[in-house]
Amino acid sequence: MNLATTPQRILVPAPVRGLPADFRWGVATSSYQIEGAAAEDGRTPSIWDTFCRVPGAVEGGEHGDMACDHYHRMPEDVELIAGLGVDTYRFSLAWPRIQPGGRGPANRKGLDFYKRLIDELSGRGVTPWITLYHWDLPQELEDAGGWPARDTALRFAEYASLAYEALGDRVEHWTTLNEPWCSAMLGYAYGLHAPGRRDPADAMAAVHHLLLGHGLAAGALRDAAGDNPLELGITLNLGTATPETGSEADREACRRADGMGTRLYLDPLVHARYPEDIVADLAAQHIELPVRDGDLAAIATPLDVLGVNFYRGMQFSGVTEDGSPLDAEGLPVVRAVDRDLPRTAMDWEITPAELTDLLVRLERDYGLPTVITENGAAFDDTVAADGSVPDADRTAYLADHIAAVVAARAQGVDVRGYFAWSLMDNFEWAYGYAKRFGIVRVDYDTQARTLKDSAKWYRDTIRLTRDDT
Ligand code: NOJ
Repeated sequence: MNLATTPQRILVPAPVRGLPADFRWGVATSSYQIEGAAAEDGRTPSIWDTFCRVPGAVEGGEHGDMACDHYHRMPEDVELIAGLGVDTYRFSLAWPRIQPGGRGPANRKGLDFYKRLIDELSGRGVTPWITLYHWDLPQELEDAGGWPARDTALRFAEYASLAYEALGDRVEHWTTLNEPWCSAMLGYAYGLHAPGRRDPADAMAAVHHLLLGHGLAAGALRDAAGDNPLELGITLNLGTATPETGSEADREACRRADGMGTRLYLDPLVHARYPEDIVADLAAQHIELPVRDGDLAAIATPLDVLGVNFYRGMQFSGVTEDGSPLDAEGLPVVRAVDRDLPRTAMDWEITPAELTDLLVRLERDYGLPTVITENGAAFDDTVAADGSVPDADRTAYLADHIAAVVAARAQGVDVRGYFAWSLMDNFEWAYGYAKRFGIVRVDYDTQARTLKDSAKWYRDTIRLTRDDT
Protein backbone atom coordinates (compact mmCIF):
# COMPACT_ATOMS: atom_id res chain seq x y z
CA MET A 1 0.00 0.00 0.00
CA ASN A 2 1.35 3.42 -0.87
CA LEU A 3 0.95 5.60 2.18
CA ALA A 4 2.60 8.67 0.69
CA THR A 5 0.46 11.72 1.04
CA THR A 6 -0.07 14.98 -0.74
CA PRO A 7 -2.48 17.59 0.54
CA GLN A 8 -4.57 17.47 -2.62
CA ARG A 9 -5.22 13.74 -2.44
CA ILE A 10 -8.83 12.61 -2.74
CA LEU A 11 -9.73 10.84 0.47
CA VAL A 12 -11.19 7.41 0.41
CA PRO A 13 -11.82 6.03 3.84
CA ALA A 14 -12.00 2.46 2.53
CA PRO A 15 -8.71 1.37 4.18
CA VAL A 16 -10.30 1.70 7.61
CA ARG A 17 -13.02 -0.80 6.79
CA GLY A 18 -12.86 -4.04 8.70
CA LEU A 19 -11.77 -2.66 12.07
CA PRO A 20 -13.44 -4.57 14.89
CA ALA A 21 -16.55 -3.18 16.55
CA ASP A 22 -14.65 -2.63 19.81
CA PHE A 23 -11.88 -0.58 18.16
CA ARG A 24 -11.73 2.61 20.21
CA TRP A 25 -12.10 5.96 18.46
CA GLY A 26 -11.29 9.06 20.43
CA VAL A 27 -10.14 12.62 20.63
CA ALA A 28 -7.60 13.91 23.13
CA THR A 29 -6.73 17.11 25.03
CA SER A 30 -4.85 18.10 28.17
CA SER A 31 -5.73 20.33 31.10
CA TYR A 32 -3.28 23.23 30.76
CA GLN A 33 -3.71 23.36 27.01
CA ILE A 34 -7.49 23.93 27.09
CA GLU A 35 -8.94 24.68 30.52
CA GLY A 36 -8.03 28.28 31.33
CA ALA A 37 -9.53 29.38 34.68
CA ALA A 38 -5.98 29.32 36.01
CA ALA A 39 -6.78 30.82 39.38
CA GLU A 40 -10.29 29.51 39.95
CA ASP A 41 -11.76 27.22 42.58
CA GLY A 42 -8.52 26.81 44.47
CA ARG A 43 -6.15 25.97 41.60
CA THR A 44 -2.58 27.00 42.38
CA PRO A 45 0.13 27.77 39.77
CA SER A 46 1.85 24.98 37.93
CA ILE A 47 5.33 25.08 36.42
CA TRP A 48 3.71 26.13 33.13
CA ASP A 49 2.04 29.20 34.69
CA THR A 50 5.47 30.22 35.92
CA PHE A 51 7.37 29.32 32.74
CA CYS A 52 4.98 31.27 30.53
CA ARG A 53 5.97 34.42 32.44
CA VAL A 54 9.66 33.98 31.64
CA PRO A 55 10.45 36.47 28.84
CA GLY A 56 11.13 34.60 25.60
CA ALA A 57 10.06 31.19 26.92
CA VAL A 58 6.79 30.99 24.97
CA GLU A 59 6.16 32.53 21.58
CA GLY A 60 4.37 35.87 21.88
CA GLY A 61 4.51 35.61 25.70
CA GLU A 62 1.33 33.54 25.54
CA HIS A 63 -0.01 31.48 28.43
CA GLY A 64 -2.87 29.23 29.49
CA ASP A 65 -4.78 31.67 31.73
CA MET A 66 -7.76 31.52 29.40
CA ALA A 67 -6.74 28.97 26.74
CA CYS A 68 -9.97 27.53 25.24
CA ASP A 69 -11.93 28.49 28.35
CA HIS A 70 -12.95 24.85 28.55
CA TYR A 71 -13.40 25.11 32.32
CA HIS A 72 -16.43 27.31 31.69
CA ARG A 73 -17.58 25.78 28.41
CA MET A 74 -17.25 22.13 29.34
CA PRO A 75 -20.87 21.06 28.66
CA GLU A 76 -20.80 22.51 25.13
CA ASP A 77 -17.43 20.91 24.52
CA VAL A 78 -18.79 17.54 25.58
CA GLU A 79 -21.65 18.05 23.16
CA LEU A 80 -19.08 18.69 20.45
CA ILE A 81 -17.21 15.49 21.37
CA ALA A 82 -20.37 13.42 21.36
CA GLY A 83 -21.35 14.91 17.99
CA LEU A 84 -18.15 13.56 16.48
CA GLY A 85 -19.33 10.05 17.26
CA VAL A 86 -16.15 9.11 19.13
CA ASP A 87 -16.56 6.59 21.91
CA THR A 88 -13.66 7.86 24.06
CA TYR A 89 -12.40 11.21 25.30
CA ARG A 90 -8.86 11.38 26.63
CA PHE A 91 -8.22 14.36 28.93
CA SER A 92 -5.91 15.11 31.81
CA LEU A 93 -6.51 16.13 35.40
CA ALA A 94 -4.76 19.27 36.58
CA TRP A 95 -2.77 18.25 39.65
CA PRO A 96 -2.84 21.87 40.99
CA ARG A 97 -6.65 21.82 40.88
CA ILE A 98 -6.99 18.52 42.69
CA GLN A 99 -4.18 18.90 45.20
CA PRO A 100 -3.20 22.58 45.25
CA GLY A 101 0.48 23.00 46.00
CA GLY A 102 1.07 19.29 45.41
CA ARG A 103 0.58 18.24 49.04
CA GLY A 104 -2.19 17.77 51.53
CA PRO A 105 -5.85 16.96 51.13
CA ALA A 106 -7.86 16.97 47.91
CA ASN A 107 -9.60 20.18 46.81
CA ARG A 108 -13.27 19.36 46.52
CA LYS A 109 -13.99 22.09 43.97
CA GLY A 110 -11.25 20.84 41.68
CA LEU A 111 -12.58 17.31 41.86
CA ASP A 112 -16.13 18.52 41.31
CA PHE A 113 -15.18 19.92 37.92
CA TYR A 114 -13.88 16.55 36.77
CA LYS A 115 -16.87 14.73 38.26
CA ARG A 116 -19.17 16.94 36.23
CA LEU A 117 -17.08 16.40 33.10
CA ILE A 118 -17.12 12.63 33.58
CA ASP A 119 -20.85 12.59 34.23
CA GLU A 120 -21.52 14.68 31.12
CA LEU A 121 -19.40 12.31 29.05
CA SER A 122 -20.94 9.18 30.46
CA GLY A 123 -24.42 10.63 30.00
CA ARG A 124 -23.67 10.97 26.31
CA GLY A 125 -22.16 7.54 25.94
CA VAL A 126 -18.54 8.73 25.75
CA THR A 127 -15.99 6.81 27.82
CA PRO A 128 -13.66 9.00 29.90
CA TRP A 129 -9.94 8.19 29.62
CA ILE A 130 -7.93 10.00 32.29
CA THR A 131 -4.30 11.09 32.14
CA LEU A 132 -3.04 11.93 35.61
CA TYR A 133 -0.06 14.02 34.55
CA HIS A 134 0.16 16.04 31.37
CA TRP A 135 2.97 18.36 32.49
CA ASP A 136 1.30 20.74 34.97
CA LEU A 137 3.43 20.05 38.05
CA PRO A 138 2.43 22.20 41.04
CA GLN A 139 5.01 24.98 41.28
CA GLU A 140 5.63 24.25 44.99
CA LEU A 141 6.94 20.81 44.05
CA GLU A 142 9.31 22.33 41.51
CA ASP A 143 10.49 24.74 44.21
CA ALA A 144 11.23 21.69 46.35
CA GLY A 145 13.38 20.16 43.59
CA GLY A 146 10.91 19.09 40.87
CA TRP A 147 11.18 15.74 39.09
CA PRO A 148 14.94 15.42 39.73
CA ALA A 149 13.98 15.06 43.43
CA ARG A 150 12.88 11.62 44.56
CA ASP A 151 10.15 13.03 46.77
CA THR A 152 8.21 14.21 43.70
CA ALA A 153 7.63 10.55 42.75
CA LEU A 154 6.11 9.91 46.18
CA ARG A 155 3.98 13.03 45.94
CA PHE A 156 2.73 11.91 42.51
CA ALA A 157 1.66 8.53 43.87
CA GLU A 158 -0.22 10.30 46.67
CA TYR A 159 -1.98 12.61 44.21
CA ALA A 160 -2.86 9.63 42.02
CA SER A 161 -4.44 7.92 45.01
CA LEU A 162 -6.49 11.01 45.88
CA ALA A 163 -7.73 11.25 42.30
CA TYR A 164 -8.57 7.57 42.08
CA GLU A 165 -10.35 7.61 45.43
CA ALA A 166 -12.65 10.35 44.15
CA LEU A 167 -13.11 9.28 40.53
CA GLY A 168 -12.28 5.57 40.42
CA ASP A 169 -15.93 4.56 40.70
CA ARG A 170 -16.66 6.51 37.52
CA VAL A 171 -13.56 5.86 35.40
CA GLU A 172 -11.95 2.62 34.28
CA HIS A 173 -9.16 3.93 32.00
CA TRP A 174 -6.21 5.54 33.76
CA THR A 175 -2.95 6.74 32.25
CA THR A 176 -0.28 7.79 34.73
CA LEU A 177 2.09 10.01 32.72
CA ASN A 178 1.98 11.66 29.33
CA GLU A 179 5.31 11.63 27.48
CA PRO A 180 7.82 11.51 30.35
CA TRP A 181 10.60 12.02 27.77
CA CYS A 182 9.25 15.56 27.21
CA SER A 183 8.95 16.28 30.94
CA ALA A 184 12.52 15.16 31.57
CA MET A 185 14.38 16.22 28.42
CA LEU A 186 12.53 19.32 27.22
CA GLY A 187 11.96 20.46 30.81
CA TYR A 188 15.27 19.66 32.53
CA ALA A 189 17.90 19.11 29.80
CA TYR A 190 17.03 21.46 26.95
CA GLY A 191 15.13 24.18 28.83
CA LEU A 192 12.46 24.39 26.13
CA HIS A 193 9.53 23.40 28.35
CA ALA A 194 8.71 24.19 31.97
CA PRO A 195 10.53 24.45 34.27
CA GLY A 196 13.18 25.51 31.74
CA ARG A 197 16.23 23.92 33.36
CA ARG A 198 19.32 22.76 31.44
CA ASP A 199 21.23 20.10 33.27
CA PRO A 200 21.72 16.61 31.80
CA ALA A 201 22.24 14.93 35.18
CA ASP A 202 19.04 16.52 36.54
CA ALA A 203 17.23 15.36 33.42
CA MET A 204 18.31 11.76 33.98
CA ALA A 205 17.27 11.94 37.63
CA ALA A 206 13.93 13.26 36.35
CA VAL A 207 13.60 10.27 33.99
CA HIS A 208 14.04 7.85 36.87
CA HIS A 209 11.73 9.69 39.24
CA LEU A 210 9.02 10.06 36.61
CA LEU A 211 9.18 6.32 36.01
CA LEU A 212 9.25 5.64 39.74
CA GLY A 213 6.26 7.95 40.24
CA HIS A 214 4.47 6.05 37.48
CA GLY A 215 5.24 2.70 39.11
CA LEU A 216 4.21 3.78 42.60
CA ALA A 217 1.01 5.33 41.27
CA ALA A 218 0.25 2.23 39.21
CA GLY A 219 0.67 0.03 42.27
CA ALA A 220 -1.52 2.33 44.36
CA LEU A 221 -4.28 2.33 41.73
CA ARG A 222 -4.16 -1.45 41.37
CA ASP A 223 -4.48 -1.86 45.14
CA ALA A 224 -7.30 0.67 45.36
CA ALA A 225 -9.21 -0.84 42.44
CA GLY A 226 -9.39 -4.32 43.95
CA ASP A 227 -11.88 -6.24 41.83
CA ASN A 228 -13.21 -3.14 40.05
CA PRO A 229 -12.39 -2.90 36.36
CA LEU A 230 -9.21 -0.92 35.75
CA GLU A 231 -7.28 -0.44 32.53
CA LEU A 232 -3.93 1.00 33.50
CA GLY A 233 -1.35 2.48 31.19
CA ILE A 234 1.32 5.05 30.48
CA THR A 235 1.63 7.17 27.34
CA LEU A 236 5.00 7.59 25.63
CA ASN A 237 6.03 9.71 22.66
CA LEU A 238 7.59 7.19 20.31
CA GLY A 239 9.03 7.30 16.83
CA THR A 240 11.43 5.44 14.60
CA ALA A 241 15.12 6.09 14.02
CA THR A 242 16.36 5.35 10.51
CA PRO A 243 20.09 5.62 9.64
CA GLU A 244 20.92 8.04 6.84
CA THR A 245 23.39 5.56 5.39
CA GLY A 246 24.52 2.04 6.25
CA SER A 247 27.62 3.42 7.97
CA GLU A 248 28.61 2.25 11.43
CA ALA A 249 28.39 5.86 12.69
CA ASP A 250 24.81 6.33 11.44
CA ARG A 251 23.69 3.03 12.91
CA GLU A 252 25.32 3.98 16.20
CA ALA A 253 23.44 7.32 16.14
CA CYS A 254 20.18 5.40 15.74
CA ARG A 255 21.08 3.10 18.62
CA ARG A 256 21.57 6.15 20.81
CA ALA A 257 18.43 7.94 19.61
CA ASP A 258 16.29 4.85 20.06
CA GLY A 259 17.96 4.06 23.39
CA MET A 260 17.37 7.53 24.85
CA GLY A 261 13.89 7.92 23.38
CA THR A 262 12.33 4.49 23.58
CA ARG A 263 14.32 1.79 25.39
CA LEU A 264 15.19 4.02 28.37
CA TYR A 265 11.46 4.01 29.17
CA LEU A 266 10.10 0.74 27.87
CA ASP A 267 12.89 -1.55 29.09
CA PRO A 268 12.34 -0.66 32.77
CA LEU A 269 8.55 -0.51 32.37
CA VAL A 270 8.29 -3.93 30.75
CA HIS A 271 11.53 -5.76 31.57
CA ALA A 272 12.44 -4.14 34.94
CA ARG A 273 15.91 -3.07 33.75
CA TYR A 274 17.52 -0.04 32.17
CA PRO A 275 19.23 -0.67 28.80
CA GLU A 276 22.90 -1.50 29.50
CA ASP A 277 24.25 0.35 26.50
CA ILE A 278 22.52 3.58 27.52
CA VAL A 279 23.61 3.20 31.15
CA ALA A 280 27.18 2.86 29.82
CA ASP A 281 26.80 5.91 27.53
CA LEU A 282 25.58 7.93 30.52
CA ALA A 283 28.41 6.66 32.72
CA ALA A 284 30.86 7.94 30.09
CA GLN A 285 29.36 11.39 30.82
CA HIS A 286 29.60 10.74 34.57
CA ILE A 287 25.83 10.49 34.86
CA GLU A 288 24.15 7.78 36.88
CA LEU A 289 20.45 7.05 37.22
CA PRO A 290 19.56 7.35 40.94
CA VAL A 291 18.12 3.84 41.24
CA ARG A 292 17.48 2.37 44.69
CA ASP A 293 16.61 -1.19 45.68
CA GLY A 294 13.06 -2.02 44.76
CA ASP A 295 12.63 0.85 42.29
CA LEU A 296 12.75 -1.28 39.16
CA ALA A 297 10.22 -3.75 40.54
CA ALA A 298 7.86 -0.84 41.22
CA ILE A 299 8.43 0.66 37.77
CA ALA A 300 7.61 -2.69 36.16
CA THR A 301 4.15 -2.92 37.79
CA PRO A 302 2.21 -4.76 35.05
CA LEU A 303 0.44 -2.53 32.54
CA ASP A 304 -2.75 -3.26 30.64
CA VAL A 305 -2.09 -0.96 27.74
CA LEU A 306 0.69 1.16 26.26
CA GLY A 307 -0.39 4.57 25.01
CA VAL A 308 1.55 5.59 21.91
CA ASN A 309 1.77 9.23 20.83
CA PHE A 310 3.07 9.24 17.28
CA TYR A 311 3.80 12.29 15.16
CA ARG A 312 6.80 11.36 12.99
CA GLY A 313 9.74 9.06 12.47
CA MET A 314 13.20 10.55 12.01
CA GLN A 315 16.41 9.87 10.13
CA PHE A 316 19.78 10.20 11.89
CA SER A 317 23.41 10.64 11.03
CA GLY A 318 26.30 9.90 13.39
CA VAL A 319 28.56 12.62 12.02
CA THR A 320 28.40 16.42 11.83
CA GLU A 321 27.93 18.08 8.47
CA ASP A 322 31.73 18.32 8.36
CA GLY A 323 32.04 14.59 8.92
CA SER A 324 33.17 14.68 12.56
CA PRO A 325 31.87 11.90 14.86
CA LEU A 326 32.02 14.24 17.89
CA ASP A 327 30.10 17.44 18.53
CA ALA A 328 31.42 20.73 19.94
CA GLU A 329 31.18 19.34 23.48
CA GLY A 330 33.10 16.21 22.52
CA LEU A 331 29.98 14.01 22.65
CA PRO A 332 29.04 11.44 19.96
CA VAL A 333 26.94 13.04 17.24
CA VAL A 334 23.24 12.14 16.94
CA ARG A 335 22.08 14.48 14.18
CA ALA A 336 18.57 14.49 12.75
CA VAL A 337 18.78 14.66 8.98
CA ASP A 338 16.03 16.19 6.86
CA ARG A 339 14.46 14.02 4.23
CA ASP A 340 12.67 15.18 1.15
CA LEU A 341 9.22 14.59 2.60
CA PRO A 342 6.08 16.67 3.07
CA ARG A 343 5.96 18.46 6.42
CA THR A 344 3.45 19.86 8.87
CA ALA A 345 3.43 23.43 10.21
CA MET A 346 5.67 22.16 13.06
CA ASP A 347 8.19 21.36 10.31
CA TRP A 348 7.80 17.69 11.22
CA GLU A 349 8.15 15.20 8.37
CA ILE A 350 5.02 13.24 7.51
CA THR A 351 5.91 9.55 7.81
CA PRO A 352 2.82 7.35 8.19
CA ALA A 353 4.53 4.12 7.10
CA GLU A 354 6.89 4.55 10.06
CA LEU A 355 3.91 4.30 12.41
CA THR A 356 3.32 0.79 11.09
CA ASP A 357 7.03 -0.01 11.56
CA LEU A 358 6.91 1.35 15.11
CA LEU A 359 3.83 -0.65 16.09
CA VAL A 360 5.29 -3.87 14.68
CA ARG A 361 8.52 -3.26 16.60
CA LEU A 362 6.70 -2.48 19.87
CA GLU A 363 4.70 -5.68 19.58
CA ARG A 364 7.88 -7.68 18.93
CA ASP A 365 10.02 -6.16 21.70
CA TYR A 366 7.47 -5.36 24.39
CA GLY A 367 4.29 -7.29 23.61
CA LEU A 368 1.80 -4.88 25.19
CA PRO A 369 -1.58 -4.03 23.68
CA THR A 370 -1.36 -0.51 22.31
CA VAL A 371 -3.66 2.43 21.75
CA ILE A 372 -2.65 5.47 19.71
CA THR A 373 -3.35 8.04 22.42
CA GLU A 374 -2.28 10.94 20.18
CA ASN A 375 -1.77 11.44 16.47
CA GLY A 376 -2.44 14.56 14.46
CA ALA A 377 -0.91 17.56 12.78
CA ALA A 378 -0.64 21.32 12.92
CA PHE A 379 -1.27 23.13 9.65
CA ASP A 380 -1.79 26.80 8.87
CA ASP A 381 -5.54 26.59 8.49
CA THR A 382 -7.51 29.22 6.67
CA VAL A 383 -11.17 30.03 7.15
CA ALA A 384 -13.12 30.10 3.88
CA ALA A 385 -15.61 32.84 3.04
CA ASP A 386 -18.50 30.57 4.03
CA GLY A 387 -16.89 30.02 7.45
CA SER A 388 -15.75 26.47 6.75
CA VAL A 389 -12.18 25.31 7.38
CA PRO A 390 -11.04 23.22 4.40
CA ASP A 391 -8.04 21.43 5.97
CA ALA A 392 -7.47 18.66 3.41
CA ASP A 393 -3.84 18.39 4.54
CA ARG A 394 -4.91 17.43 8.07
CA THR A 395 -7.51 14.99 6.79
CA ALA A 396 -4.86 13.34 4.60
CA TYR A 397 -2.54 13.12 7.61
CA LEU A 398 -5.20 11.45 9.74
CA ALA A 399 -6.32 9.13 6.95
CA ASP A 400 -2.81 7.94 6.21
CA HIS A 401 -1.98 7.32 9.85
CA ILE A 402 -5.21 5.45 10.46
CA ALA A 403 -4.38 3.36 7.40
CA ALA A 404 -0.96 2.73 8.98
CA VAL A 405 -2.70 1.42 12.11
CA VAL A 406 -4.84 -0.86 9.98
CA ALA A 407 -1.67 -2.09 8.23
CA ALA A 408 -0.07 -2.88 11.60
CA ARG A 409 -3.16 -4.82 12.67
CA ALA A 410 -2.92 -6.79 9.43
CA GLN A 411 0.57 -7.80 10.58
CA GLY A 412 -0.83 -9.09 13.86
CA VAL A 413 -0.23 -6.06 16.08
CA ASP A 414 -2.72 -5.71 18.93
CA VAL A 415 -3.52 -2.00 18.48
CA ARG A 416 -6.89 -1.29 19.97
CA GLY A 417 -7.69 2.34 19.39
CA TYR A 418 -6.87 5.66 17.82
CA PHE A 419 -7.29 9.12 19.39
CA ALA A 420 -6.88 12.23 17.26
CA TRP A 421 -4.79 15.06 18.68
CA SER A 422 -6.51 17.27 19.20
CA LEU A 423 -10.20 17.79 19.75
CA MET A 424 -9.66 21.51 19.25
CA ASP A 425 -6.93 24.07 18.65
CA ASN A 426 -5.19 24.81 21.92
CA PHE A 427 -2.09 26.08 23.72
CA GLU A 428 0.80 24.36 21.96
CA TRP A 429 3.34 24.81 24.79
CA ALA A 430 6.39 26.86 23.74
CA TYR A 431 4.69 27.68 20.42
CA GLY A 432 1.71 29.32 22.12
CA TYR A 433 -1.52 29.43 20.10
CA ALA A 434 0.12 29.83 16.68
CA LYS A 435 0.22 26.09 15.97
CA ARG A 436 -3.23 24.64 15.45
CA PHE A 437 -3.62 20.90 15.98
CA GLY A 438 -7.40 20.85 16.38
CA ILE A 439 -9.91 19.09 14.19
CA VAL A 440 -12.17 21.80 15.58
CA ARG A 441 -11.13 25.41 15.09
CA VAL A 442 -11.11 27.76 18.05
CA ASP A 443 -11.50 31.48 17.42
CA TYR A 444 -9.64 32.83 20.43
CA ASP A 445 -11.38 36.21 20.23
CA THR A 446 -14.86 34.79 20.58
CA GLN A 447 -14.10 31.23 21.78
CA ALA A 448 -16.37 30.00 18.97
CA ARG A 449 -15.75 26.38 17.94
CA THR A 450 -16.11 25.38 14.27
CA LEU A 451 -15.76 21.85 12.91
CA LYS A 452 -12.95 21.78 10.36
CA ASP A 453 -13.43 19.55 7.33
CA SER A 454 -11.11 17.02 9.01
CA ALA A 455 -13.54 16.74 11.93
CA LYS A 456 -16.40 15.99 9.54
CA TRP A 457 -14.23 13.43 7.75
CA TYR A 458 -13.26 11.82 11.07
CA ARG A 459 -16.92 11.66 12.14
CA ASP A 460 -17.98 10.11 8.81
CA THR A 461 -15.09 7.65 8.88
CA ILE A 462 -15.94 6.45 12.37
CA ARG A 463 -19.55 6.02 11.33
CA LEU A 464 -18.49 4.07 8.27
CA THR A 465 -16.29 1.65 10.22
CA ARG A 466 -19.18 1.01 12.59
CA ASP A 467 -21.59 0.34 9.73
CA ASP A 468 -19.04 -1.96 8.21
CA THR A 469 -18.61 -4.26 11.23
C1 NOJ B 1 2.31 15.67 22.47
C2 NOJ B 1 1.77 16.30 23.71
O1 NOJ B 1 1.28 15.31 24.56
C3 NOJ B 1 0.71 17.35 23.44
O2 NOJ B 1 0.49 18.05 24.63
C4 NOJ B 1 1.14 18.25 22.31
O3 NOJ B 1 0.24 19.28 22.09
C5 NOJ B 1 1.31 17.40 21.06
N1 NOJ B 1 2.35 16.45 21.29
C6 NOJ B 1 1.67 18.20 19.81
O4 NOJ B 1 2.93 18.74 19.95
